[in-house]
Amino acid sequence: MRPNVRRNNEKRIILTTDIPVIEIRDLHKSYGSLEVLKGVDISAPAGHVVSLIGSSGSGKSTLLRCANLLEDSQQGDVLFCGEPVVWKGAGLNRRPADRAQITRIRTNLSMVFQQFNLWAHMTILQNVMEAPVTVLGRDKAEVEASARKYLDKVGIGDKCDAYPAMLSGGQQQRAAIARALCMEPKALLFDEPTSALDPELEQEVVKVIKDLAAEGRTMIIVTHDMRLAADVSDHVVFLHMGKIEEEGPPETLFGAPKTERLQGFLSATVPA
Ligand SMILES: Nc1ncnc2c1ncn2[C@@H]1O[C@H](COP(=O)(O)OP(=O)(O)O)[C@@H](O)[C@H]1O
Ligand SMILES: [Mg+2]
Repeated sequence: MRPNVRRNNEKRIILTTDIPVIEIRDLHKSYGSLEVLKGVDISAPAGHVVSLIGSSGSGKSTLLRCANLLEDSQQGDVLFCGEPVVWKGAGLNRRPADRAQITRIRTNLSMVFQQFNLWAHMTILQNVMEAPVTVLGRDKAEVEASARKYLDKVGIGDKCDAYPAMLSGGQQQRAAIARALCMEPKALLFDEPTSALDPELEQEVVKVIKDLAAEGRTMIIVTHDMRLAADVSDHVVFLHMGKIEEEGPPETLFGAPKTERLQGFLSATVPA
C-alpha cells in the first residue's frame, strides 16, 4: 500500500493509506484433498498492476478465480475495496453468506480469459452489450454508445456487426477486453490473455493491455509473457506450488531474483 499524505482544512497533515481494490489474506483453497493455495496474500491497490507468474499448476488461475469469487476457499479473507466477504460454515463447508454481496463484488471485477469466451451466436456489439444490459440493467442506448466507444478503443470499432468466428484470435480477445471494460469495473483480472494467440496477434493484445495500464486501471494479470509483466507491472508475484515464493517490483524480480526457484523458472521461460 502507498501511504498518502493529505491536508485537511485546518492544514494539519493526515497520514492515510489507500484501501486496495482487491486484497486477499492468508487464502487457503483445496479441491478435495488437494491443497492448491497454501496461505496466499495479494493486494491490488487502485491504479496498480499486479502480475502473477509461475509454472503451470502453481495455482495462478485458482487464485484469480478466488479473487473474483468464482471459487470458494476454505480459510483466509477476500476483501473488495476494504469490504470483507462474509462467510458461513468452515473448511470445505465454507460458503459466501451473502449472495447479493458476491454478485455486487463480481460485477465490479471483470475477467478476461485465455479462450475469450465470446458468445458465438451474438455479434461483437451484442457480446459487449449483453452483461451491462442484462446483469446491470443499464439503459440499452447508453450501453450501445459505451460499447462502441470501447470497441473503438481496442481498435475493432469496425467489427461491431461481425460474429466472433469471423474475427482473428487477437481481434476476439480485444472484443473480450471491450466487453470487460463495458461493465465499468473497479478492476480487471486477466488469465493468460495472450496464451492462445500467435506471436503477431499477441502483440495487438499486449498493446491494449499496456494502454490500460498507462490509463491507471487496476489489474491483476496472470501471464507467461515475462516482457509484458516486466513492462506493465508495479508488483510481480511468483507463485510456486500454491505459495508465494518471491514478490517485488519487476526490476528486482526479473533483474535480481533471489530464490533458486525463481531463477530456474526465469531461465526456463525467458529467451536468452
Ligand atoms: N476444478 C478443479 N478440480 C480439481 N483440481 C483442480 C481444479 N482446478 C485446478 N485444479 C488443480 O489445482 C492446481 C492448480 O491449478 P491452476 O490454478 O489451474 O494452476 P495454474 O493456473 O497456475 O496453471 C493444479 O494441480 C490443478 O490440477
Ligand atoms: Mg492457469
